[in-house]
Amino acid sequence: MEFVIHEMEEKDLPKVQDVWRAVNIDLAFSDKHEELVKMIKFNPGLCLVLKDTLKSDILGAVLGGFDGRRGWIHHLAIHPSIQGKKYGTLLMDELLRRFEERNVAKLKIEIFKSNKDVIKFYKKLGWEHRTDLSTMSLTLKE
Ligand SMILES: CC(C)(COP(=O)(O)OP(=O)(O)OC[C@H]1O[C@@H](n2cnc3c(N)ncnc32)[C@H](O)[C@@H]1OP(=O)(O)O)[C@@H](O)C(=O)NCCC(=O)NCCS
Repeated sequence: MEFVIHEMEEKDLPKVQDVWRAVNIDLAFSDKHEELVKMIKFNPGLCLVLKDTLKSDILGAVLGGFDGRRGWIHHLAIHPSIQGKKYGTLLMDELLRRFEERNVAKLKIEIFKSNKDVIKFYKKLGWEHRTDLSTMSLTLKE
């Protein structure tokens, strides 16, 4: 199999949602089609897919967003059929390169406590596990 990384397009969204479902990422309000279209438009070049060039199938995805201060990474996922082959690393390296190109100083990611094993993955990529921070949220729409 041969893979390439592409910028996410609206037509990719159903397959991207399939990849997220396959890795049990909970699809919330912000993962509805129209909301994802908004995310892609707000963050040109920072939402990416991993595409199988032969079948033209999507087997990986990640959403990058810049809020003017920090870069945020959401929903990194590699389809279970190709996990453990460094495609997650590849997708993250490409996204990092794109954040660097935009002079973004710091990146953030939120990880569910139930998914704490994945911290090892990010540590291997040089990320720091911040135990001095707590996340809070306020829901305005669901
Ligand atoms: C996390 C994820 C994107 C990693 O992609 P991948 O292609 O399987 O990872 P890689 O092959 O690039 O792994 C790089 C290293 O991290 C390790 N690693 C990857 N996923 C890991 C996990 N869940 N737990 C612990 N270690 C992990 C690998 O063993 C590998 O170690 P090595 O360098 O010693 O061989 C993928 O496993 C996935 O989609 N998981 C489900 C969704 C998810 O949890 N996303 C993160 C949301 S915060």
